[in-house]
Amino acid sequence: MCMNPIVVVISGLQTEDKKIFMGSIVPRFPLIVFILFNFLDNIHAGVTSSFIRSEWPSDDMPLDNDAFAVPNGYNAPEQVHITQGDYNGKAIIITWVTPDEPGSNQVKYGKEEKNYDFTAEGTVKSYTFYNYTSGFIHECLIDDLEYDSTYYYEVGEGESARSFWFQTPPKIGPNVPYKFGIIGDLGQTYNSRSTLNHYVESGAQAVLHVGDLSYADKYEYDDMGVRWDTYGRFAERIQAYNPWISTAGNHEIEYMPYMDEVVPFKQYLYRYPTPYAASESSSPLWYAVRRASAHIIVLSSYSPFVKYTPQYKWLKAEFKKVNRWKTPWLIVIMHVPIYSSNSAHYMEGESMRAAFESWFVKYKVDVVFAGHVHAYERSHRISNIEYDVTGGVSYPVPDKSAPIYITVGDGGNQEGLASSFNDPQPDYSAFREASYGHSTLELINKTHAFYHWNRNDDGKKVATDSFVLRNQYWKKRKLEENDLHAITPTPELDAY
Ligand SMILES: *[C@@H]1O[C@H](CO)[C@@H](O)[C@H](O)[C@H]1NC(C)=O
Ligand SMILES: *[C@@H]1O[C@H](CO)[C@@H](O)[C@H](O)[C@H]1NC(C)=O
Ligand SMILES: [Fe+2]
Repeated sequence: MCMNPIVVVISGLQTEDKKIFMGSIVPRFPLIVFILFNFLDNIHAGVTSSFIRSEWPSDDMPLDNDAFAVPNGYNAPEQVHITQGDYNGKAIIITWVTPDEPGSNQVKYGKEEKNYDFTAEGTVKSYTFYNYTSGFIHECLIDDLEYDSTYYYEVGEGESARSFWFQTPPKIGPNVPYKFGIIGDLGQTYNSRSTLNHYVESGAQAVLHVGDLSYADKYEYDDMGVRWDTYGRFAERIQAYNPWISTAGNHEIEYMPYMDEVVPFKQYLYRYPTPYAASESSSPLWYAVRRASAHIIVLSSYSPFVKYTPQYKWLKAEFKKVNRWKTPWLIVIMHVPIYSSNSAHYMEGESMRAAFESWFVKYKVDVVFAGHVHAYERSHRISNIEYDVTGGVSYPVPDKSAPIYITVGDGGNQEGLASSFNDPQPDYSAFREASYGHSTLELINKTHAFYHWNRNDDGKKVATDSFVLRNQYWKKRKLEENDLHAITPTPELDAY
């Protein structure tokens, strides 16, 4: 790796020797490390940010907080949210909860506000979790939508009806611009609220949620269900308008034998449907969607993924379906990071790395987003696929075909920040900081995307880590790009 770092360490040194020399009354100054670095071939020494966020309580907002307000009216729909409903972005799944009775399953929708040309009929269900009984959870698929259009929709009945809108993505295509927001480990604290406020400011069009949604599992008995409901009302102001493409985290597992609740992901799966069948997946926990110029693969860190498991077989087949001529951007989301140098959850992603990393490199995945670690970190393009226990270097090496790994588990849940990074910073780590925030990925055309990590900075949005993401597949295909014969390189893929 070409690196030319100049490292300057300025510190309130507090070694044992110095303490004795200066006397024991010297206060313990924090070690402040400034790293100055040179850029060389886009690869530079890692940065551990010296930003220290001021403390904000990481408590959940109380039940009577206005973020959790129940909408007015008898049986008024609440917790409205949408997600992509098909493979290509022409369908949407709308879900909502009615508290008092099932009521109507109908969604009215159309291109004009309050003047709906269409209706669609959904389904309703409810569940119990120990001594909690959910409201009536409605789910409705709306398909055959037109691309690149604004639709208005209404759920609920009479005086209690509520209306929202969403925008369909443009038709799949190589140079179709689109802006994703990436949020992880959100929870329902004041910091979570700040993250959502900043997401709105960043102007993204859809959310990739890398898992750990409500943190309802921090509660017991019926309070768990209650906190799924408050989370749904809290996130509605964005989830009802921008589709959220989610993966499940460990806080969604909710394996609770003491309450006789042993079916993993029960509450999550009742509340957050996914369009898994559209990508021929056999489970709502892993699936893929295509949106604008992106092919997004959603993996489940807590479902079997080793060789011969359904997720493994599905992923193998899904990678073959990726058509970079139609969707040049290949994005993977999962909960547990594969590369993280934070002490929290260190090495937990190793088993998935062993299973899937060689495919990520082979298929030139552009970027892998994960959460789980409550901090921000970005890697260089590195891989560690040569090592096989008896041979190869057991350390990641620079690899231009490898994805960039980004951990953005800093949405702001009640567990607070993971502020302890391994020291020294490993070569593979490009930037790391323990602050709350979210990322945006703005796809410009098939070769360029703009990436930002936005630190909440306790109230004001500050763009902190940003770079131009170059598409690894198209970077090397400048010649073929102008070669008419190469326009359909893989005819069998054209069906996708
Ligand atoms: C549920 O069970 C818990 C623990 O036994 C109890 O404290 C709570 O009041 C119960 N709630 C309901 C709605 O029955
Ligand atoms: C793609 O976008 C980048 C960044 O805006 C620009 O520099 C480049 O010229 C664009 N490429 C094409 C083929 O338009
Ligand atoms: Fe997690």
